[in-house]
Parts: sequence; C-alpha cells; structure tokens
Amino acid sequence: MQNSNQRLLLKARPEGIAGPEHFEEDVQPVRMPGPGELLLESVYISIDPAMRVWVSENPGYVPPVEIGTPMRAGGIGRVLVSEDPAFQVGDFVNARLGWQTHPTVRASDSQKLDLSVGSPQDWIGPLGTTALTAYFGLFDVGAAKPGETVLVSAAAGGVGQMAAQMAKIHGCRVVGIAGGPEKCAYLKDTLGLDAVIDYKAGDLEDAYKATMPDGCDVFFDNVGGEQLDLALASLRENGRVAICGRISQTAAGELYGVKNLGLLIGKRARIQGFIVFDFNARYPEARAWIAEQLKTGSLQQRLHILDGLTKAPEGLQMLFEGGNQGKLVVQVAEE
Ligand SMILES: NC(=O)c1ccc[n+]([C@@H]2O[C@H](COP(=O)([O-])OP(=O)(O)OC[C@H]3O[C@@H](n4cnc5c(N)ncnc54)[C@H](OP(=O)(O)O)[C@@H]3O)[C@@H](O)[C@H]2O)c1
Repeated sequence: MQNSNQRLLLKARPEGIAGPEHFEEDVQPVRMPGPGELLLESVYISIDPAMRVWVSENPGYVPPVEIGTPMRAGGIGRVLVSEDPAFQVGDFVNARLGWQTHPTVRASDSQKLDLSVGSPQDWIGPLGTTALTAYFGLFDVGAAKPGETVLVSAAAGGVGQMAAQMAKIHGCRVVGIAGGPEKCAYLKDTLGLDAVIDYKAGDLEDAYKATMPDGCDVFFDNVGGEQLDLALASLRENGRVAICGRISQTAAGELYGVKNLGLLIGKRARIQGFIVFDFNARYPEARAWIAEQLKTGSLQQRLHILDGLTKAPEGLQMLFEGGNQGKLVVQVAEE
C-alpha cells in the first residue's frame, strides 16, 4: 500500500502566465478514506488553460484555489481503497484529483469509467471534457449545419482539433487557425481541414479574406482578441460565434478592445459564451456520438503527454506559449 501522497501546492498568485515558480512540492502521508470516500492513485491529470483563471484572486464562476492547497485539477485515477459499495479496488474513475499522486476524494464526485467504450487514455482524451466542450460548442452554441463554413481558433489544441474534426464530419467547410507551420501542416495534412491560417505568419486580415472569401457562418473561438475581432467582420448573415475561451487575453497585461461588435446588428449575428459543465446531463449523448466516430476512425485526438506530476506547472506554462501539440496531460502512473 502506498503510504505517501506527493502534492503540488499553489505558492503565489501569478501576475501574467503561471509557471513552476508559483507552485511548491510537499509529501504527506496518504489520508485513508472515510465512509463515502475513495483513495486513488492518479494516472492522468488534465492540464487546462482555465487553471490560470482558477489561481487568480477572483475567477468568477468557481472559487479561487487557496494559497498552500493542492492545485485544482481533474483527471483519471485508479481506486486503491474504496469506502463506497459502488466502487471496487482497481476501478478507473474520472475524479477531482488535484495536483497530487494519491488523493482521497468523495465517491459522489467520481464517475466510474466504462472501459468497454475506451481505455483510460481515451477517457482523458477524445471521451474527456475537451472533446465534450467541442461537441456542445459546435453543435449547440454554434449550431453548425452541413455545408456551412466553420472557423476554429487554436485549432491544433485539445478543444480546437476536436471541434475542427467534428465540423468536418458534419459536412462543413473548415478553416483552422494555429501558430506555426508544424501545427498548420498537421491540421491540413493529417486532419484534412480545408484551409489553415498561421496567425504568426503574415497579415491576419488578408489571411481571413484569402481562406474565407465568402466569410464564415460559425466561429468557434478559443483565443479572443484580434482573431475574434476579425471573425466578427468575416461573419455572414445569421452567423454564430461560440465563445469557448480567450487564451490570448487570460494572462494579457493590456486587454484587446474588440471593435467590430456593431457589425452583429446588420448581420443578425449571435455571439454566446458557454461552459461545458452546463451540458452535464447530455454527456452520454455526446460520448455515444464520439465513440461511434472513434470506432470508424473518422475522429482522432493527438495527446501531448508529460511524464510525472512535477511537470504539471511547466505544462500549464506551455499552454500559454503554444508549446503543446494537442490535448495536454500529465501521466503520473502507468495504466
Ligand atoms: N468554455 C468551456 O467550458 C471550456 C472548456 C475547456 C476549455 N475551454 C477553453 O478552450 C480553449 C482551448 O483549451 P485547450 O485545453 O484545448 O488548450 P489548447 O488549445 O490545447 O492549448 C492552448 C493553445 O492556445 C494557443 N494560444 C496560446 N496563447 C495564445 C495567444 N496569445 N494567441 C493565440 N493563440 C494562443 C496555443 O496554440 P498555438 O500554438 O496555435 O498558438 C496553445 O497551444 C481555452 O481557451 C480554454 O480556456 C473552455
């Protein structure tokens, strides 16, 4: 039996991008579970841009992570000890792990994984929250229809690559925005997008016009700032903008002032933010659709796996510097 729990605690609130200097390591004895609790071994921990918001003074939609406590994180764990009859030793669960190797969690907050649908790695990847975010953002908020043009920002990232592929499967023309030639080549050659924009090369406005001469119907936005502003100008009549994230603004000193909102009036266009958890009741529907696409090979997810818990802070930094090639996770233990 494992006796110690390695943890990464929030040490200080960052001003800009969060990095290793904002976290510190400690080791505690594991806490044996009480009634209704589970002792887990963390296997995969998801690294998400929202973590940068959670460590700020006032995240808004969730309480801030307190200084001196383990960083908040979701992921996949293996049950080592169960004090809840619904869970057996050896089960894999989706749970609120935090940045720790052996968390003790409430069973009621944990979901047992159905391994007949996918492996634990699939459950942190294409069956996980980033994919669900793409599904509901594209089909519900963006209301994408076959034949429409869909623009996706941060298209080579975890959410973006799923949204872009889902739009292709749905029969849309898909344009992806990403930073750098490697990510753009991946989108075009491996995922089969119709056009790509490298936002780090050349004039962005020209690139929008060249790749979408007739504009776009849906913008799935992960980035905000200038990419959003130009998309508002590119929207066709009755266009929709799904605001999934705004990573360019999350840690920015000076915020970008969006200028083109007024164009929504004449275009009869709609812009809407969303949080994936609001669609909780419909996760089974989304997962059934995703599982079907995985089975036929029409959907894939590139995972970027870092090895070991202590890589988590570096991982968080990578998201804001574009260092990740796909959905970023930290692997803490073997499956
Ligand atoms: N609404 C929700 O419920 C929900 C749920 C999950 C995630 N999200 C949001 O979805 C977005 C993507 O999350 P993810 O986990 O899939 O991360 P990700 O896209 O895998 O990683 C972030 C990517 O953003 C790009 N980026 C970083 N800084 C940028 C900047 N200044 N300008 C332009 N692009 C920049 C980088 O790609 P490049 O190399 O291409 O620049 C980086 O790889 C985030 O905004 C996140 O907050 C929302």
